[in-house]
Amino acid sequence: MAGDPMTEAAKRLVAEHPNHSARGLARMLVAESKGALTLESARTRIRAQFGQSGRKRDRKYATAPRPARQPGHRFAMPESKVEPWTVHDLGVVGRVGILSDIHVPFHDPVALQAAVSHLAETGIDALVLNGDTADFYTISRWTKDPRKRDLPGELAQIREMLGWIRQTFPEIPIVFKAGNHEERWKHWLWQHAPEISAEPEMGLAFWLHLDRHGMQLVEDKRPIMAGKLPILHGHEKGKGISSPVNQARGAFLRLHHTVLEGHGHRTSAHCEPDMWGSEVFCWSTGCLCDLRPEYSRFSKYNHGFAIVGVHEGGEFDVENLRITAGGRVRSS
Ligand SMILES: [Fe+2]
Ligand SMILES: [Fe+2]
Repeated sequence: MAGDPMTEAAKRLVAEHPNHSARGLARMLVAESKGALTLESARTRIRAQFGQSGRKRDRKYATAPRPARQPGHRFAMPESKVEPWTVHDLGVVGRVGILSDIHVPFHDPVALQAAVSHLAETGIDALVLNGDTADFYTISRWTKDPRKRDLPGELAQIREMLGWIRQTFPEIPIVFKAGNHEERWKHWLWQHAPEISAEPEMGLAFWLHLDRHGMQLVEDKRPIMAGKLPILHGHEKGKGISSPVNQARGAFLRLHHTVLEGHGHRTSAHCEPDMWGSEVFCWSTGCLCDLRPEYSRFSKYNHGFAIVGVHEGGEFDVENLRITAGGRVRSS
């Protein structure tokens, strides 16, 4: 039938409407033929293009092969694989300590001791370890100094640090947020042990003894809510505005919502009223690790931490504290 204008028309129709029913396309072809074709002969031409002809030879020349459908077949929307993504609500009224970017084993002992002592002395009702608590240097995808590779040693130090923190705050809820450095664990597993990477025994909670320390893991870039204040590690926003002059302003430009985050290792704040005069306030907290790491000897990092006072109804106050030389805690 090659060269037959009606066959050429059939080819064009199936190319233009690959999901139409054969019967519907046959009707269009009959209309184009101005009555020269019967519905049945038009349908034969269309079915030949779909590879549904009874003759094997014709199936070889099909231009838009597709399986035959049962009469009355209806398409349905396929099931979605989207998983729900929700916040983690601390559910605490009172004072919440925020310690971010400790980067064990590259923590700064003086700064960390100053922050923990300040929280213990002033009293807190919950603690958020707000990401990059562990560095996971050994399993980083960046080039590493082979002399420093010691995963068992790193894991042992992280567990020891978590034990020390729990010992200092024995009674309060403690949340362990996965920052970009903790995500290295999952990515490393996907690369080196994909078949068993989803087993609970391979998870961060298991390897860091979080259950034993009564700490709750928050993964999947979920915001943590302290009353009405969303707390992020900071890497959740994605790349593009990760190193602005003022990190808090960068967070504002990206989110247009009040937020507190770590990740940038710098203390900053930014406030803008919206058109009704309602304030949007963003904060970034300092870190508790080495200020001169090998990958950024001239960093602009500073030490710091925060306390969020959560009131009934969810209103809150933020103390964004810095730590200067010798472990002095400063309010501004
Ligand atoms: Fe960090
Ligand atoms: Fe980070």
